[in-house]
Amino acid sequence: MYVCLCQGVTDTQIRQAAEEGCRSMRQLGKEMGVGRQCGRCASTAREILRECQSNDYLNMAGLLAHPA
Ligand code: FES
Repeated sequence: MYVCLCQGVTDTQIRQAAEEGCRSMRQLGKEMGVGRQCGRCASTAREILRECQSNDYLNMAGLLAHPA
């Protein structure tokens, strides 16, 4: 789904950026322009980044269930 309509950025692209090391809205804005125009996407984009970071943490800690 599109998260940032101004820049045409989807949630998949934001997740991919997070996987590649993007850790903040500032960085996301610099790299993809997310949140830099009207700003309506900022809270959703931030939420997606946080979700990716917490998944990373749980994966590193081995706390997520592994599918059989
Ligand atoms: S929707 Fe992202 S800056 Fe406007």
